Amino acid sequence: MTPFPDSAAWRALLGHREALAGATARDHWQSDPGRGAALTISCAGLAFDFSRQNVTPDTIAALCALARERELPKMIERLFAGEHVNPTEDRAAMHMALRGDEHANVDGADVLPLVQRGRERLRAFSQAVREGHWKGAGGERFRDVVGLGIGGSSLGPKLAAQALSAGADGPRARFIENIDPAQFDDALEGLDPGTTLFVIVSKTFTTEETMANAGAARAWVERALGDGAVAKHFVAATAYPDRATAWGLPECNVFDFPEWVGGRFSVWSAVGLPVAIAIGMPAFDRMLAGAHAVDLAFRSDPLERNAPALMAMLSVWNRNALGCASHAVLPYGSRLAGLPPYVQALEMESNGKRVDREGRAVTFGTAPAVLGSEGTPGQHAFHQWLHQGTDPVSCDFVVVARPMGTDPERHARLLAHAAAQVEALANGIETPEPWRACPGGRASTTIVMPALDAFHLGALLASYEHKVFAEGILWGINSFDQWGVELGKKIAAAILPAVRGAGVVEDPATRHLLGVIHKLRQSD
Ligand code: F6P
Repeated sequence: MTPFPDSAAWRALLGHREALAGATARDHWQSDPGRGAALTISCAGLAFDFSRQNVTPDTIAALCALARERELPKMIERLFAGEHVNPTEDRAAMHMALRGDEHANVDGADVLPLVQRGRERLRAFSQAVREGHWKGAGGERFRDVVGLGIGGSSLGPKLAAQALSAGADGPRARFIENIDPAQFDDALEGLDPGTTLFVIVSKTFTTEETMANAGAARAWVERALGDGAVAKHFVAATAYPDRATAWGLPECNVFDFPEWVGGRFSVWSAVGLPVAIAIGMPAFDRMLAGAHAVDLAFRSDPLERNAPALMAMLSVWNRNALGCASHAVLPYGSRLAGLPPYVQALEMESNGKRVDREGRAVTFGTAPAVLGSEGTPGQHAFHQWLHQGTDPVSCDFVVVARPMGTDPERHARLLAHAAAQVEALANGIETPEPWRACPGGRASTTIVMPALDAFHLGALLASYEHKVFAEGILWGINSFDQWGVELGKKIAAAILPAVRGAGVVEDPATRHLLGVIHKLRQSD
């Protein structure tokens, strides 16, 4: 296969772009008022309105031709068949198996029994905590559950716990990610060790931040309740259960998940334990069901009606044909504030790559910079840049049709603002004063969730997961590794002695920076 972008289908797409001559969604809406229905796709109860993208049905057809040329349908099958789609780590990416009840084959074995066993252990444990059968060392029921994890081991659970907080009737979930002790101190402020359960979430069980925080949490619990309390106040979610038992946990406190679940795709596994404890396993099951519904659609819907695949194709169109180096994720709802960082990790850790699957340097842009925050506060912060900045930006708006709080009137205003931003970005405004003019032409997709509930949250997250996978296929890159994060970890370990005050630093600029820090640390 000719590598992207030197392919016939890509060249055809560029020819089509020339034919469009800069026309945007505003122009297309004028010439084709029926495009709303044609370009709105439903998937697992979510509606994806692509009609504000700068495309025509011909663009979609040309993008689907590109996707076929890149063998996306075949790669989707390979993904679901449990093949080793992650070549640099030589493993499958089978997170989808965690959310269904179908037989699935990975490395010659049916993983369904393993998946079901894992899910039943989550059910039993979360229920025991919620019903007070699993108590603290002093015999008290747990009131708080603290997830200790980072990256994929925290962003998904944190987002889900916040998004579904309205129905959460179990212990309150909170999360500590940073090695910054201030975050740890702030998170534990006001918590009672006797009623606090910690879930150490780490696929590798070696991540420095998580292990340092787990050690600090153990000291916090032991100081208050004595050594024996650890077995009651700590559990772990990991792919390396032996490391968790070596840390001091009894086997029954360790919830394992398979290697073929990538960190940023792992909220569906034992990694979601803090969420299951907070919202209950029936709600967690509904989240899995929503994701599973998207899996079925992604696997079987034709490309022209396949929402995650279309998200990916439009991303490639915006990134590589229309020059958008940034992409904004804009959920209208405070409980979805965790979505932008979640998508940022998913997109940028998966597709922030500069070589293709064969190790050749790519000659085109891969993952855009993903930014964003909840609306409406973002409107008073960075939307100015979206409207009048010099660089084109593509956007995803996420709106929830039914009210999330107690006041439908303010929810209506929230929706009005979301729809207004979509319109303003697309249509812009011409004014006599140049400083007031907005160029418009900014492409956006609006994803409408009927309600902010577990099923539709699962569907939303799985849609993004598959979008990112499909993008990787179109670009020809491996979305499932993240070697770029290793170098910084190695350097941090090497220079730590010097940060503490003793040790040699080779790099002159780092040596200089540490000198500046030391000087300011000593001055007051
Ligand atoms: O540093 C990146 C990363 O490897 C992520 O991919 C992962 O989700 C995170 O660190 C945490 O890793 P672990 O779950 O092994 O602690």
